[in-house]
Amino acid sequence: MKASPNERRKIKFGLAAKLNLILSLVFFLSVCGFGFLLSSIFENGAKAEVEAQALIVNQFANATRSYTQEHITPLLQQQLQSATQFTSEAIPAAAARQTFDFFRDDEPYNDFFYKAAADNPTNPRDRADEFEMALLERFRSENAPTLLSGIRNFGPEEFFYVAQPLKLNNPSCLECHSIPANAPASLIASYGSENGFGWQLNSVIATQIVSVPYRQIADMARHRSIQGIAVLAAILILILLILNILLSKVVVQPILKIARTAQLVASEDNLDVEFPFEKSNNEFGVLSRAISSMIYGLKTFAQELEYRDRAEGIHDVNSIEYSSHSSSSGGESR
Ligand code: HEC
Repeated sequence: MKASPNERRKIKFGLAAKLNLILSLVFFLSVCGFGFLLSSIFENGAKAEVEAQALIVNQFANATRSYTQEHITPLLQQQLQSATQFTSEAIPAAAARQTFDFFRDDEPYNDFFYKAAADNPTNPRDRADEFEMALLERFRSENAPTLLSGIRNFGPEEFFYVAQPLKLNNPSCLECHSIPANAPASLIASYGSENGFGWQLNSVIATQIVSVPYRQIADMARHRSIQGIAVLAAILILILLILNILLSKVVVQPILKIARTAQLVASEDNLDVEFPFEKSNNEFGVLSRAISSMIYGLKTFAQELEYRDRAEGIHDVNSIEYSSHSSSSGGESR
């Protein structure tokens, strides 16, 4: 069956389609894998960020405590001694707590929580719960860590916490935390003489814990992963586009040119067609020259056949003549 000269049969599932399918699959898998990797990298990054922020919060709480202790408490000493009026502004821990409440007034710190959890607190609100007691024990153990972080639950919600030990380093703290007899009268009047005493210098008296809802960290990680994946997907789509253009220009178009020339030879029985790229030094040159020399072979073969046919035609005539002669002679001989 001859191919029509204008045959431009649609190529089903050609080179470009195959390449696109394979690359799309590879790209899809790499986006999935990369997305998975990214979200865990960003999750760890978000945790490290919150950890760094928590250290700042703690350091700031300590600074506020020290400032109050050194500058405010002496100023308000007289008021503290009066049993009738309690001045919370003179209390270092209270100052740190109130400053923190101002700190978390604004975004994105609304969801930060701070607690100085102690096993023997002056204010019962600061009493360490079971979880915080375990942290305190670890901070008091040998080779104690200087920082612990992880996930904990408050009701149904998960929190990421960062905890540090709080050591009593300043002897002046003992005024209110050693024996009730040393403490200002107003403190005893407000808090009683049962709690927050007997603390030792250089001992871990509490753990400062900063907690952040875990969903905030997950949101941070998801947001960054989506950005990373979007950038990767954009790069891969660009690569796919460039590859398609290159493939079409460099591979598909030249092959189609050679194929159409071959179709022309087949459809018109015209063996004198010049092939594209015959002078090129690349693979298409090799292909073109190979097809061309095949056609040249066909051409000489066809010519030989023609000569032979013609020669046989003459021979046939002779043989007919000869045979008619011989048959007639045969007839004669009969
Ligand atoms: C003038 C008395 C006074 C001095 C000095 C003082 N504290 Fe306190 N401290 C208190 C009172 C009162 C509270 C409870 C505050 C509240 O209700 O939040 C407290 C609370 C604390 C808490 C929170 C746990 C708890 O007991 O409720 C820590 C931790 C703490 N103090 C550590 C220190 C350190 C460290 C120093 C030295 C830098 C210090 N305090 C100096 C009176 C004092």
